Amino acid sequence: MNEETPRRSAGLPTGGQRLEAHGVSLGYDGHVINRDLTLAVPDGSFTVIVGANGCGKSTLLRGMARLLKPSAGAVHLDGREIHHYGSKEVARRLGLLPQSQEPPGGITVADLVSRGRYPHQTLLRQWSADDEAAVGEALAATHTTELAGRLVDELSGGQRQRVWLAMALAQRTEILLLDEPTTFLDIAHQVEVLDMCEELRADRGYTLVAVLHDLNLACRYATHLVAMKDGAVVAEGAPEQVVTAALVEHVYGLACRVIPDPETGTPLVVPRKKQRQAPDLGVDVLPRDSSTEPSASLKEEV
Ligand SMILES: Nc1ncnc2c1ncn2[C@@H]1O[C@H](COP(=O)(O)OP(=O)(O)OP(=O)(O)O)[C@@H](O)[C@H]1O
Ligand SMILES: [Mg+2]
Repeated sequence: MNEETPRRSAGLPTGGQRLEAHGVSLGYDGHVINRDLTLAVPDGSFTVIVGANGCGKSTLLRGMARLLKPSAGAVHLDGREIHHYGSKEVARRLGLLPQSQEPPGGITVADLVSRGRYPHQTLLRQWSADDEAAVGEALAATHTTELAGRLVDELSGGQRQRVWLAMALAQRTEILLLDEPTTFLDIAHQVEVLDMCEELRADRGYTLVAVLHDLNLACRYATHLVAMKDGAVVAEGAPEQVVTAALVEHVYGLACRVIPDPETGTPLVVPRKKQRQAPDLGVDVLPRDSSTEPSASLKEEV
C-alpha cells in the first residue's frame, strides 16, 4: 500500500500501530493478572479479544485505556507512553466502553451521552454546535434518539447498553475499546452494533478493539482475533488461522467442531454434545421392545 494513502480514505489496516502494549504486567494489589504481555493493535482493524471468564481481558483493556498502571512494561499511544498524557488528552484520542458501570442517578439519556463530549470542552470552548451534532449522531447510530428524554435508571438492560455505547461514540475518538459491547443485547441488536462497528472501521478508518464472548460473531467481524488464556495472549491473527478445535479446547476446555459458517465461510464453532454415561444398574440392558415406541404419526401429533 502507498505510504501516502490517507488512513481515513483507505479504510484498511495500514500496518501501523497507534496503540501497543509492550511487555506489560497488569493486576490488582500486587497480584499480577497479565504478565509480560505484548499486543500491537493494527491501525484500522477490528481487533476482537476472546477468552474464558476471568482470563484478564478487561484488565488488559483497562491497562490499554490508562485506567490501570502497568507494574512492568508500558502501553504506547501514538508513539508515546500513555501515562505521560493527561486523562483528557487520552480521552480525545481513545474511548473506552467499560464492561459494567452504574449511571449517575436521575440522569437523562441525552445528558449522559453529552458527557461523552467532556474531553473536548475547555474553559474557553464550551458546548458547541459540534458537540450537539456528535451527540445527535451517536444517538441515531445506536437507535436511542427516541430514548433521549428518558431517565437512564428506567431503561432495560439492552437499551442502557446502547446508551453507554452512544456516550462512547459521542466522544468521536478514532480508537474505541469496547468491553463486551453486545452484553444484554438481543441477537438483532448484537448484529446491528457489530455492523455499526464494521462501518466505523471501513468508512471512517476507526480502530476498534472489542471483547466478545460469541466466538462465531467474533469470527465474522474480527479482522484481527486475539485469544487469551490465564492472562496471556495464546494466539492472534486472522480468525481462520486462530479458531481451530484445538484452540477452543485449549482456551475453554470445550470439545467442538469448527466448520465454515454457511453465510460467511468464517469459522463456526459447534460444541460437541456431551456424552452422558448410562448409569451402571448392575444388570444387562435389555433390548428395547419396538412395539412400545410411539408410532411416527403419533410422534407428529404430540
Ligand atoms: N478490581 C479488581 N480487584 C481485584 N481483582 C480483580 C479486579 N478486577 C478483576 N479482578 C480479577 O482479575 C482477574 C481477571 O479479571 P478480568 O475482569 O480482567 O477478567 P475477564 O477476562 O474480563 O473476565 P470476564 O469474561 O468474566 O469479563 C479475575 O481473577 C478477577 O477476579
Ligand atoms: Mg471482562
